[in-house]
Amino acid sequence: MTEIKTHKNQMTNSHILVNAFDYFEPVSVDEALQLLVRYGGRAQVMAGGTHLITMLKMEREAPDAIISLGRIPALDTIQKNDQGELCIGAAATIHAIRYHPLVQTSYFALAEACASFGSTQIQIMGTLGGNICNGSPASDTVPALLLFDAQLLLKSPRGERRIKLADFLLGPGKTERKEDELLLEIILPPPPSGASSTFIKISRVAADLAKASIAAMIVRNGNTIAECRLALGSVAPTVIRMPRAEAFLKGKPFSDEVLEQAGQIVSEDIRPIDDFRSTAQYRRKVCRAITVDVLNRLWKMATSPQPSLSVSTDGAGAHKRSGTPHNIAAHSKQEVQLTINGEHHLLWVAPNELLINVLRERMHLTGTKYGCGLGECGACTVLINGKAALSCLILAASAEGKEIVTIEGLKGPANGLDPLQDIFIEESAYQCGYCTPGFILTAKSLLAENPHPKEEEVRDYVKGNRCRCTGYTSIVRAIMKYAESNS
Ligand SMILES: Cc1cc2nc3c(=O)[nH]c(=O)nc-3n(C[C@H](O)[C@H](O)[C@H](O)COP(=O)(O)OP(=O)(O)OC[C@H]3O[C@@H](n4cnc5c(N)ncnc54)[C@H](O)[C@@H]3O)c2cc1C
Ligand code: FES
Ligand code: FES
Repeated sequence: MTEIKTHKNQMTNSHILVNAFDYFEPVSVDEALQLLVRYGGRAQVMAGGTHLITMLKMEREAPDAIISLGRIPALDTIQKNDQGELCIGAAATIHAIRYHPLVQTSYFALAEACASFGSTQIQIMGTLGGNICNGSPASDTVPALLLFDAQLLLKSPRGERRIKLADFLLGPGKTERKEDELLLEIILPPPPSGASSTFIKISRVAADLAKASIAAMIVRNGNTIAECRLALGSVAPTVIRMPRAEAFLKGKPFSDEVLEQAGQIVSEDIRPIDDFRSTAQYRRKVCRAITVDVLNRLWKMATSPQPSLSVSTDGAGAHKRSGTPHNIAAHSKQEVQLTINGEHHLLWVAPNELLINVLRERMHLTGTKYGCGLGECGACTVLINGKAALSCLILAASAEGKEIVTIEGLKGPANGLDPLQDIFIEESAYQCGYCTPGFILTAKSLLAENPHPKEEEVRDYVKGNRCRCTGYTSIVRAIMKYAESNS
């Protein structure tokens, strides 16, 4: 069983990683497993790093070693196997899953759950394996995965095993993963014929973890609910299915009264707590309401064409890399080659050095701003392989072999401003020097994926870039104007 260790010393510094650790970039699963054995529980696996790096910054974890999955090939594939099951590699990003045609067609609740994730940058960096292994009851993907009876493929030096996701989750931060195991794949059986599914999340703001969430699947037979599955997040020590409500709904004719009764059962069966996001009382009330909402939505979806979640994209882009794999001992440095704004730079970096510090303090590229340091404000956004990513949550050594672009790297005609920067100025979207670089680079990432976004797509894409001075109207208008000027 893996339990996240909490340090008694809670003093945090979000600008640096205080603790030293050995850093490894194995190039195969077997090499990674050997390292896990060598460190016997004192190593942490790093996939996208969005959870792990924040834990290190807050000094809630202090592993002796970090084992990056970034160089292991084919850990991010999404494909069907001979049994018709959908196999999602543990290192597939939330962004890639969100837009994958097989997910959108047959596992729509999972696509929606990925879309509801914190911010675009976190979706681009974070992986499905990381979302499952951090054992959070507030995970967005786990309710959808439980709906589809997901199984996990784990590997250790003792061999492979398949385990039901429902049996893997033990409590907040606790999973059935043994310390020498890697999660390789998430396997989704084919959904029942004629099934529709959807996901609803209630959170304080768009880019936040859930106060409560629900994923639901329904099979409609005329006016009868032939089958229904419900899974809820943030309302118990783990994400949970609702067997009593599911049994109650099965075979019932669809009516407001039946939905109300199902909502009542759900509100009785959840085990919510009071925490800084919500109260238990609110969670019971809201779960009753979202059960009714989700079933109403599904009932309509069951007779209308499946909606889709707009742009299709290569979401794995930010993690793709060339260059040399690095193994760097704690308290030492190694020379890495970083490609920044089209130029190659050789720099000596320590394992616990963050990309943002290298960019600002050693390259003097101060357009990349330090805001929260914890992935929440978007001020440190840079482009990695053309995609918006958060330099405050990236180890500098892990960026070798990727194309890094900062705001200083944008160029327009005759080495002037990029046309998007000009439009930001014209439209009064240049509201402050702190957030604007992050907004512009996030917009660049969007426009490369989706040159003609709708307004709601622009708003969704920039939801992780926070403005606390004015608002988003001018910024959205500028991005839309740029897109129109290129049509
Ligand atoms: C600002 C912010 C917003 C967020 N918003 C959301 C949100 O809206 N919804 C949500 O669900 N989550 C959210 N998260 C949490 C986090 O981003 C997700 O859980 C993400 O999917 C983690 O993936 P990762 O690849 O970054 O994991 P990492 O940080 O790399 O790893 C997470 C944990 O899993 C382990 N691990 C990773 N991969 C494997 C593997 N293959 N085998 C074994 N162990 C592994 C690591 O050792 C670590 O303990 C947010 C985080 C931040 C910082
Ligand atoms: S400084 Fe990186 S997201 Fe706030
Ligand atoms: S744009 Fe920086 S606070 Fe509003």
